[in-house]
Amino acid sequence: MKERIEIFEVGPRDGLQNEKREIPVAEKVALVDCLSRAGFSRIECASFVSPKWVPQMAGSAQVLAGIARAPGVRYAALTPNMRGYDDALAARADEIAVFASASEGFSKANLNATVADSVDRFVPILEAARHIDLPVRGYISCVTDCPFDGPTDPGAVAALADRLFGMGCYEISLGDTIGQGTPDSIARMLSAVRDVVPATRLAGHYHDTAGRALDNIDASLVMGVRVFDAAVGGLGGCPYAPGASGNVATEAVAAHLERLGYDTGLDMDVVNEAAAMARAMREG
Ligand code: HMG
Ligand code: MG
Repeated sequence: MKERIEIFEVGPRDGLQNEKREIPVAEKVALVDCLSRAGFSRIECASFVSPKWVPQMAGSAQVLAGIARAPGVRYAALTPNMRGYDDALAARADEIAVFASASEGFSKANLNATVADSVDRFVPILEAARHIDLPVRGYISCVTDCPFDGPTDPGAVAALADRLFGMGCYEISLGDTIGQGTPDSIARMLSAVRDVVPATRLAGHYHDTAGRALDNIDASLVMGVRVFDAAVGGLGGCPYAPGASGNVATEAVAAHLERLGYDTGLDMDVVNEAAAMARAMREG
């Protein structure tokens, strides 16, 4: 039997948060509904952040209210603080994600906080989530390179991963936010992180700015990572990371993994349909 690799679909969040065009809620709902038929277990489709910081995500509550929830699919939302947590809960997100940076420069730009202060804000979120058994994922940005501070020390990524995992995050998603990682730098980083968090609780979240995301996925597979984040149509980027381009495209990752002999459990016809929708949304 083929080994299963999971693709965590982040297109409706990471993909659409950086689009210039104001995308109507109905279009986002249609994209998520299409993705719900593709076989994903987890789809990130909302972000309860300040609309002043990321206006593209302002309709997140309406998106979660409008989608047809498929059985067995968890619909995820980003929550930077308790306000976001309360809004995510009210909108019935099935799981949430906190997000921090391994580098101070990006932390300041993205969250207006030091790394330590941003993590302190997550403490009450993790506590509240634990009481109601709500799964919380932890993102770490700039795991190999920061657009402000240059190369990231793998030890800083490991320390933050250890902290987030210890606080109760069930999975740590490692973000190559600006797509400058190489198979070598990704392997060095993973080798440090694996010492504190089991590889089975890690995910690779690689942006494809330099066209190396698939190579970085290969390096991560060797290190035991079995979950990869991707966005249909290769949409996305972070508005606070200069030079960040799209997430690696879901359809490219799925085809690559199938070629390598893995099973993704995805219906490629539906994935390709969603990718075409996502690309059309970018063009308007
Ligand atoms: P701040 O300006 O320091 O804090 O922002 P504030 O408390 O003064 O809030 C500013 C305003 O936002 C206030 O409104 C708050 O009420 C409001 P005002 O009084 O000015 O009218 N506010 C909120 N509104 C709605 N929902 C909330 C919320 N919180 C405050 N939850 C803050 C601090 C954290 C809010 C801000 O920095 C922020 O929202 N940052 C989010 C940036 C972001 O979403 N970036 C993209 C996602 S991360 C990413 O893409 C990376 C990832 O993909 C992994 C990778 O690739 O590396 C995950
Ligand atoms: Mg990202």
